[in-house]
Amino acid sequence: MKLFITGANGQLGQELTLLAKAAGHEVLAYSSKALDITQSDLADLSGVDYLVNCAAYTAVDKAEDEPEKAFAVNAMGVANLAKTCAEYNVPMIHISTDYVFDGTKKAAYLETDTPNPQGVYGGSKLAGEALLQATWDKHIILRVSWVFGRFGNNFVKTITRLSQERDQLKIVADQHGSPTGASHIAKVILALLAHPQLTSHWGIYHYTDAPQTTWYDFAKSFVDPEKCTLVPITTAEYPVKAKRPSNSVLSCDRINKIFGICQCSWQEELQDMYAV
Ligand SMILES: NC(=O)c1ccc[n+]([C@@H]2O[C@H](COP(=O)([O-])OP(=O)(O)OC[C@H]3O[C@@H](n4cnc5c(N)ncnc54)[C@H](OP(=O)(O)O)[C@@H]3O)[C@@H](O)[C@H]2O)c1
Repeated sequence: MKLFITGANGQLGQELTLLAKAAGHEVLAYSSKALDITQSDLADLSGVDYLVNCAAYTAVDKAEDEPEKAFAVNAMGVANLAKTCAEYNVPMIHISTDYVFDGTKKAAYLETDTPNPQGVYGGSKLAGEALLQATWDKHIILRVSWVFGRFGNNFVKTITRLSQERDQLKIVADQHGSPTGASHIAKVILALLAHPQLTSHWGIYHYTDAPQTTWYDFAKSFVDPEKCTLVPITTAEYPVKAKRPSNSVLSCDRINKIFGICQCSWQEELQDMYAV
């Protein structure tokens, strides 16, 4: 299979590029420098089987101060890719986020639940979903959450570093979600692309690792309590620019029912990270 990957230098982009190559696929991997998705004249997709968009503006708090930049990448950039994919009849796999929801639901969010983003980042990602849906039928929108892994910057790396510098760290304990390994998302994408039913089941899917947890409990699972004490705090005690959903747990029943994809455990990704 010939895959075209955008945002190939991000957490997910690097994992997907490596795993796709290891699986024997021909991979055209583009970093933001090699291909800026906000530019409308995108690459030649002749002979490409699938385009996977891992490119995104992911600075959730910074987005509040520069909405034009967030929307340029997460909305207009996605529309550019969708237009090019439609021109070349190349199906597009696009990654979205739990932050399209407001977090007020008590149970896990379904793909059919109405989004209501609370910040610029979530709003720009939702706009990207809508533009893709309006532009090109042959698409998968895969919503994921709390991404971490060996590449790039993420919560696990930041907290690990801070826990080595400080005796005590305060971590938010009233936001619920599911950490998700970047390598697990990459595997899910490859499983979808290989699935014989993919072409008759385009649409939105949720995928996260399991089990659901809070940022505090997640941090407890990898911080050494002998070296650093973790203190649970509320969202109100940790003011940031962008509002976060208090519940961003995504139901993964649909991807399981249609494609037989099961949730991996985030503990496995943590073990793999520390084994490297
Ligand atoms: N990280 C999370 O916790 C999280 C949670 C839910 C959903 N998601 C979604 O998961 C996907 C992958 O996220 P990630 O964690 O891998 O993000 P990431 O590590 O921030 O990677 C995003 C990549 O996109 C690139 N990019 C930014 N603007 C671009 C442009 N105009 N043209 C081309 N590339 C551009 C960035 O390049 P530079 O390095 O040059 O900036 C970066 O390499 C995204 O769709 C994100 O919205 C992430």
